[in-house]
Amino acid sequence: MELNKYIDKFKKTETPFYFYDIDLLKQTFKEAQQHSQVIPNAMVHFAMKANSNASILSYVHQAGFGIDAVSGGEIQRAVELGFCGDRIVFAGVGKTDKEILIGLDNDILCFNVESIPEIEVINELAKERGKTARLAIRVNPNIDAHTHKNITTGLEENKFGIALEDLIPTIRMIQELSNVEYYGLHFHIGSQILDMECFKALSLKVNDIQESLEALHIQTNSINIGGGLGIDYNHPQEKPIADFKSYFNIFKDYLKLRPHQSFHCELGRALTAQYGALITRVIFVKKAKVKQFAIVDAGFSDLIRPSLYQSYHKAVNLTSNKPEEKYDLVGPICESTDVFGENVSLPQTQRGDIIALLSGGAYGHVMASQYNCRPLIREITSEQL
Ligand code: LLP
Repeated sequence: MELNKYIDKFKKTETPFYFYDIDLLKQTFKEAQQHSQVIPNAMVHFAMKANSNASILSYVHQAGFGIDAVSGGEIQRAVELGFCGDRIVFAGVGKTDKEILIGLDNDILCFNVESIPEIEVINELAKERGKTARLAIRVNPNIDAHTHKNITTGLEENKFGIALEDLIPTIRMIQELSNVEYYGLHFHIGSQILDMECFKALSLKVNDIQESLEALHIQTNSINIGGGLGIDYNHPQEKPIADFKSYFNIFKDYLKLRPHQSFHCELGRALTAQYGALITRVIFVKKAKVKQFAIVDAGFSDLIRPSLYQSYHKAVNLTSNKPEEKYDLVGPICESTDVFGENVSLPQTQRGDIIALLSGGAYGHVMASQYNCRPLIREITSEQL
């Protein structure tokens, strides 16, 4: 991500804010789109929980991606921004009646369902609307994604999905109901996955499942393998684009799709993280007895990932090229977890310096809050700056 050319503009802009580099966005989308084509009938859905900025979503739309929504609000926002219902899938363990109706009224491609009571309610509501809802069953494949425990989802102890042994009875139950139809299988094993072996294991598991369903003459129209492709938080400048090539090739090599089946994935982080940076200003440098603190005007209300998941976001001082020193980079909020990094090496830093926290384009702004009556952090694209 090329930040240096924007420094003068950053200096004149009130901080903190999220900055999105549209050139990098376009390049990322292009690569994802190109590599996805190794798989026939592939549809990439953008997991808009990662970033729901309107400008970004307009590029998602232009790239021809669909949407993975996890709330009625996301479906409505996607539709308002021009996405057709037939490109939207809707996931979530706790969809309310109101949200299900939003899905039905917009004729979404399918509901990714996670429990028996949910299927019953969708059937009832679809009957009221005189519609038939397509259902993809989210199967919990019990695969360890080797990622942070707070963002792993595919293990039996997680709340997500339907256990493998319940899959066939669940399909049979759907077949008995009047206003729902079994459409496909859905999986999601976790997030920030860098070990491609996990996706290979998932592919092999899906192959087994497909065989057991075919033995019973059950037809599956779509295979959705979820999201989860990770990015390089340690070297965002050197590796700004996720490894879409390996990701799609793993599925091409190991997942046995049937000719009539469509392939879906739901990428969030890999599509947006690297072209976003949190731009913040140093308010004070405080020298304490054992360390020094660079206190910036962004806090965990603006970027909660370090506090919530101990995540690393690389910090760069855009306005100093002096020799490096160690700082604890902290926000202004009166809580001890309001820390972006301890012992961070930065060029000698002073009040007024502009710091960029990189890889902030996914799960950054969308998870921001107004804690302490702080204004909700703004988002500015390179085209708007
Ligand atoms: N599909 C489903 C069903 C999901 O639950 C998720 C993310 C995705 C797709 C997109 O996953 P991705 O490609 O972005 O890994 N807030 C956390 C991440 C939570 C991810 C939750 N599910 C973070 O900041 O790391």
